[in-house]
Amino acid sequence: MTGQQFLYQENQQYFAQCGRGIEEITGEELTELGATGVEPTYRGVHFAAKPGVLYTINYCARIPSRILAPLAHFACHTEKVLYKKAMEIDWSRFLSPDQTFAVFANVSDSQINHSKFAALRLKDAVADFFREKTGRRPSVDTREPDLWINLNLRDNFATISVDTSGGALHRRGYRKSSVLAPLQETLAAAILRFSGWNGETPLVDLMCGSGTILAEALMAYCRVPAGIHREKWGFLRLPDFDETLWRKVKQDADGRVRPCPEGLIQGSDVDGRAVDAACENLDEIPGGSMVQVRRRDFHDLKGFKNVTIITNPPYGVRLLEQNQAEITIRELGDFLKQNCTGSTAWILCGSIDLMKHIGLRTSKRIPLFNGPLETRLVKLDL
Ligand SMILES: C[S@@+](CC[C@H](N)C(=O)[O-])C[C@H]1O[C@@H](n2cnc3c(N)ncnc32)[C@H](O)[C@@H]1O
Repeated sequence: MTGQQFLYQENQQYFAQCGRGIEEITGEELTELGATGVEPTYRGVHFAAKPGVLYTINYCARIPSRILAPLAHFACHTEKVLYKKAMEIDWSRFLSPDQTFAVFANVSDSQINHSKFAALRLKDAVADFFREKTGRRPSVDTREPDLWINLNLRDNFATISVDTSGGALHRRGYRKSSVLAPLQETLAAAILRFSGWNGETPLVDLMCGSGTILAEALMAYCRVPAGIHREKWGFLRLPDFDETLWRKVKQDADGRVRPCPEGLIQGSDVDGRAVDAACENLDEIPGGSMVQVRRRDFHDLKGFKNVTIITNPPYGVRLLEQNQAEITIRELGDFLKQNCTGSTAWILCGSIDLMKHIGLRTSKRIPLFNGPLETRLVKLDL
């Protein structure tokens, strides 16, 4: 290989970003997909991978948000050092002046304490690198850039990375329609993994909203790669990208897709618009027509024996909504107790307080973060 060697090429180490509280299970998923040396840390996982495994993880992993390939890591107390070190990276190996890029930065416990300012200096360095070399510079596009660059500045150490996913992985591409408070796809996938559901029992979501839990269950059961709809990957821009290997990874993963038995995955919601949104989204996924979605108030359902129920009831932000959310979760608890014996239910409660209103003994309580909200995923053995 000619040219500058980047950090990820020297040590084959990457960093998977993920939500708070799901670091361990992200690590488990990465290990299953072939990663080694998996080390969960705050909101992410360090791991090692060969290029084929890196492509597999990007294409198939359901829980991480992005996979970063570190280019350089250095002590960084001042913006001058940041700028100088960033200028030393041969950006022409990733990008041409006709293309676009975006920088996103996280900063903590460092002399440079503004993430926007840090991102700006890195952006200047990339632009100046090209201007000095070619007289032209790539433009910034923060929505759909050709190259996403990440800066992590922690304890005065900077890591500059390329986002090999090419944008957040929760954007699966199946969400055509949405209603209020959809779950993020990566969080829904994490909840499914926590539940251990493997298709041996039917899966039911009694308040499916736009169908995120149903869609993620379908994709997981049918082994539909999480990235099936994505065309633009960040790893295509890596200087050592191996197209033949990527084609093989994709072909192997696509070849493992299996059908979904009718009725294995079922959902319902009281809101007709939510049901329409769920159907529209499921239609985007192979096997989506096998998922049963009905407009029903859960109070009017007959009940379910020996199934896995996974659901995300409404959580109120304003006071009135909070009261209603408490009533709904209490009634859900009653419904489960009376009509779902032999089943296991996993309920994502929007707050610790809301959890107390369910009125049933929980056998597990898992703290999870839904955006900024601290929630609890609880298990009920019915
Ligand atoms: C937090 S949202 C679920 C979001 C969903 N997980 C998603 O990803 O789109 C809660 C849902 O509960 C539904 N709901 C509220 N009360 C209900 C009831 N009594 N029966 C059925 N669905 C209900 C609402 O219509 C709403 O779609």
